Amino acid sequence: MHRGNLFLVGMPGSGKSTLGRLLAKRLDKSFYDTDVEIERRLGVTIPVIFELEGETGFRDREAAVLGDFVEFTNVILATGGGAILRPANRDKLKQNGTVLYLHATPETLWERTRRSKHRPLLRAADPRARVNELYEFRDPIYREVADFVVESDRAHVVQLAQRLEQQLRAAARA
Ligand code: S3P
Repeated sequence: MHRGNLFLVGMPGSGKSTLGRLLAKRLDKSFYDTDVEIERRLGVTIPVIFELEGETGFRDREAAVLGDFVEFTNVILATGGGAILRPANRDKLKQNGTVLYLHATPETLWERTRRSKHRPLLRAADPRARVNELYEFRDPIYREVADFVVESDRAHVVQLAQRLEQQLRAAARA
């Protein structure tokens, strides 16, 4: 792991924050979340940023936060689902840490996000179709940027964190 950094990428609802928090405790690293940091810096919620600045404005904020956090050492960073859309962000993630794609099927993602009011991109006439569309478009990009892919399983997230801890510790020793 470059400088002990682990970057989590994946769709909204894939469980990046839940897994990231657990893993950070186990591996004794600091946990951060780009969305939380954007909201902290601006003092408003993500839906409000989308409303005021549009998606492009939000992506600019996201790129700035990501650029700052990849410079850290020994962190686990959960990135927003669309952070991998800009090639410059992908390069930064690849260059500064190990990238883990937390994969979930579109059905699972839909189940986990359908009640969320905090995700402006999923506010669509047909939100289920929107999840499928985003998944189809992004899945190859997540795979391209990732060093490894793991299946997200919320029921077994503790076991997943345990398994990943072992793998990451073994990789660090190799
Ligand atoms: C987005 C995902 C969100 C947040 C924003 C845009 C996306 O983060 O960054 O609403 O483009 O998929 P989560 O993946 O944490 O939901």
